[in-house]
Amino acid sequence: MTTDQAPHVTMDEITALAKRRGFIFQSSEIYGGIGGFFDYGPLGAILKRNVKDAWWREMVELRDDVVAFDSSIIMHPSTWIASGHVANFSDKMVDCRNCKHRFRADHLASLAKCPDCGRSDTLTEPRAFNLMLQTSIGPLEDSGARAYLRPETAQGIFVNFKNIYQSARKRPPFGIAQIGKSFRNEITPGNFTFRMREFEQAELEYFVPDDGNDLASYAHWVTARKKWYSDYGVREERLRFYELSENERPHYAKAGTDVEYLFPWGWGELESIAHRGTYDLDAHMQLSGKDLTYFDEVSKSKYTPILIESSAGMDRTTLTMLVDAYDRETVSDAESGKKTSRVVLRFHPKIAPVQAGVFPLARNKAELVERARSIERGLRPHVRTLYDEGNVGQLYRRQDEIGTPFCLMVDYQSIDDGTVTVRERDSMRQERVHGDALRAWMAGRL
Ligand code: GAP
Repeated sequence: MTTDQAPHVTMDEITALAKRRGFIFQSSEIYGGIGGFFDYGPLGAILKRNVKDAWWREMVELRDDVVAFDSSIIMHPSTWIASGHVANFSDKMVDCRNCKHRFRADHLASLAKCPDCGRSDTLTEPRAFNLMLQTSIGPLEDSGARAYLRPETAQGIFVNFKNIYQSARKRPPFGIAQIGKSFRNEITPGNFTFRMREFEQAELEYFVPDDGNDLASYAHWVTARKKWYSDYGVREERLRFYELSENERPHYAKAGTDVEYLFPWGWGELESIAHRGTYDLDAHMQLSGKDLTYFDEVSKSKYTPILIESSAGMDRTTLTMLVDAYDRETVSDAESGKKTSRVVLRFHPKIAPVQAGVFPLARNKAELVERARSIERGLRPHVRTLYDEGNVGQLYRRQDEIGTPFCLMVDYQSIDDGTVTVRERDSMRQERVHGDALRAWMAGRL
């Protein structure tokens, strides 16, 4: 990390703000929590939904070559044999015999000394640990009933490839997209919602013919994903597209890029984009004995399409939006000139959980309350609004901390001439806008 990229916030500050303002809570907190699981509070649930909607809009709704999909979390256990997860989806773990702490072997600098208790020669040999979470189906918990919670959503798409292209009447190049929960029994969950055991993925599987344009299609998706992060305001200097070298990629992959964000602890992967060849469809054809090739009616020929995959973590992207938006600055009070510090989340207006806060200047003045409530009701079908009352300074401070781009204050002048004061979050500039013009004014800025 270079000095100009020194963290602008600590994870403790993010975790505290996330709890205080209702973005993210530890799961089952009253029972002491459970490692690797989190709950999204009232604002976090909206923020994450907005992130998913933004992905869906760009990757599915605005394209005529991508169709939607939603597969089950539990699939036939053979799925995971074909995909290689049963044999290979494991991390090496190491335990300390003294302090009983558990580590991922690849996270340790050496196996000589425990990094937690400092004792030497107490670490076990690394042992492979399969990361799939198991469950059992039906009343008997024997091995015949064993099933897995999917560790990625992609396999649901692969096994349905034929059902989808036939029913949707699609011809490669075309894509299948889904957003859904995935589960991995991570050895060391951590860094808040970065490494979880239950998380959500947004995956696009894009199938192309073997006509020599496969690498161009891969490059198209890398560019499209760059634009997406940029459109939602993720700071360019904290985002990198790391191109994997040949020995960093699986043997069947012709190209791969990891999208990484500079978190307070360092670079962390948000998404992987990969050219996976015909590996996945081939594997399922081999084990199932079923034909998943594409029959081209025009050329009357049959082939296995090449796959370009974009797989993004929605919890990691939501965390990125929170971290990236965080800012602390010193501001002077407009009237007294007194300097204070404020925390502000500079969310892109499209993903901000609340887009307009509406308040009366005084909560005990019925006219003001009535007018503010009526303005809020009028805007609600068009903009994500929130009505609140209280001390003006505190109202603004609260909205800054949850990243609301606009605050509308109804004051005495509002009763006289129908205007309200609109305060803009980032510049804190205020201007008067007529109540009847508010909707159009917002539309131009959201
Ligand atoms: N189908 C390809 C695939 O699953 P991956 O790189 O293993 O690829 C894709 O996962 C994305 O899913 C990651 O870039 C990350 O954003 C998210 N992800 C993976 N494991 C995660 C975890 N334990 N917690 C939160 N997100 C995770």
